Amino acid sequence: MSLIIIDPAKCRRDGICVAECPMGILAQPERDQPPLAVAGAKDICINCGHCLAVCPHGALELKAMAREDTVALDPADLPSAYQVELALRSRRSIRSYRDEPLPRAQLAELIDVARYAPSGHNRQPLSWLVVSDRDELARLSGIVVDWMGWVCREDSALAELLHLRRAIQRWQDGTDVVLRGAPHLALVHAPQGERTAPAAGVLAMAYLDLAAAGRGLGACWAGYVMTTVNLWPPMAEALALPEDHGCFGAMMLGRPRYGFQRIPARRQPPITWR
Ligand SMILES: Cc1cc2nc3c(=O)[nH]c(=O)nc-3n(C[C@H](O)[C@H](O)[C@H](O)COP(=O)(O)O)c2cc1C
Repeated sequence: MSLIIIDPAKCRRDGICVAECPMGILAQPERDQPPLAVAGAKDICINCGHCLAVCPHGALELKAMAREDTVALDPADLPSAYQVELALRSRRSIRSYRDEPLPRAQLAELIDVARYAPSGHNRQPLSWLVVSDRDELARLSGIVVDWMGWVCREDSALAELLHLRRAIQRWQDGTDVVLRGAPHLALVHAPQGERTAPAAGVLAMAYLDLAAAGRGLGACWAGYVMTTVNLWPPMAEALALPEDHGCFGAMMLGRPRYGFQRIPARRQPPITWR
């Protein structure tokens, strides 16, 4: 079975798949014949599915992608520009959560959306870890606070910059400044040497955040956790990621305790137009 199967009865020879293939592995030497995969295509194809997604005639199938794993798209179902932009602008980092775990199926649905985030060369390099055990979450927050104490002793300038002394004080006063009492922590990990992982991790977290907001749930970057996984051995030990894996994004998740009434202002970024 070849890499790409084109149904000659459905193919209209319009060359759209040839024009759109990101790797340029389709060619149509004869205008009245269906496209062909070029020599060596199987080693170059990144299985992104762009060719079958763009074909208006359903003429194309990929060996590596079962048709039932693809979804028919009706433009009428898509949100308007206003709806998309409102969703983007109104999303907030949530720092007060109801004391109510989310069902695992709901968490799985959020991750199911996040897996559609772009990744370099369609590598999809991320694995996920979801921590929901209350004691475990408290332990992770405590490990971060230990790290904060270490920074205060070893690097006063950084401690100052990150307001760590104040954070430790708040922790001692009973406020979870690390995970904000969220009932879940979701993090993505990948081999340290995977060059596409940093961008993929950030994008997966952005998708997760937006997917959560869309369902009335809340998320917030767990920046302290992410920082410590990669440079504070007790955190790496506690999370027990696979050997040689680094953390490329971490988020608190849960049901927001409060609703938001306004969208706060953001600065106008400098833009150079050329
Ligand atoms: C990489 C990254 C790390 C962050 N880490 C934390 C964190 O550890 N704790 C926290 O409360 N917020 C964290 N935030 C959230 C930011 O403070 C927040 O995005 C910013 O204040 C803007 O607010 P908004 O997301 O509600 O628009 C982080 C954001 C990013 C992008």
